[in-house]
Amino acid sequence: MTLARIPHHVAIVMDGNGRWATRRFLPRVAGHKKGMDALRACVKHCGERGVKVLTVFAFSSENWNRPPEEVSSLMELLAAALAREVPQLNVEGVRIHFVGDRAQLSEKVRAGLAQAEAATAGNQRLVFNICFNYGGRWDIAQAAAKLAARGEAITEQSLDRAMALAHVPDPDLVIRTGGERRLSNFLLWQAAYAELYFSDKLWPEFDAAALDDALADYAARERRFGKTSEQVTPPAAKRVA
Ligand code: FPP
Repeated sequence: MTLARIPHHVAIVMDGNGRWATRRFLPRVAGHKKGMDALRACVKHCGERGVKVLTVFAFSSENWNRPPEEVSSLMELLAAALAREVPQLNVEGVRIHFVGDRAQLSEKVRAGLAQAEAATAGNQRLVFNICFNYGGRWDIAQAAAKLAARGEAITEQSLDRAMALAHVPDPDLVIRTGGERRLSNFLLWQAAYAELYFSDKLWPEFDAAALDDALADYAARERRFGKTSEQVTPPAAKRVA
């Protein structure tokens, strides 16, 4: 499959793990485990398709309000995955970046994140941002606080540089699975001009073919960034296309 225009940066709200499990009379954590398999396949497929940055929402600032056993399962899942997946991520040229507030995380999770970042720091094929204990409002507030502490003026540019995702360009395509049509505090600042794609598939079912559907949908969009259609695609070019 050749796609005319591959998004540089794809961001995903991986929603629907719980429902996937509940429909099978399984505990919710079984859905998160299956979601981890889907995530592994998604990282691989993004690399193969030429996506350069993948950002996923793995645990939101609000997810602390879930039942304590689900919260600790997600922490365990992350710690175990970081330890297990690094060799394969190195084979695939994937560089891990943790994005979020580390302060509330356990020493074990913090150490795992730091080790995974260090172990993959030399990889250049795909930047893989894991948003964990992350919220878009948290990011804007922490960026503003950083600038205030330094006595720097708050402008769009200075805020942009102080954001937790300053190391990558803004997302081109934001995907949300699971049938809901909202951002849920994900990339509030960075998604200003992103194309949005909503899938009714639950995250554990979002496979390579589903990702290709999203990429094909993106390739057919006209991105205007506030300009007119004629400015971004002159009429003559449209007739040929
Ligand atoms: C949302 O589904 C999903 C999450 C809150 C967690 C996402 C986690 C993974 C995909 C697997 C693990 C990945 C890491 C890096 C730990 P939901 O539970 O809200 O589903 P529901 O809407 O059906 O209840």
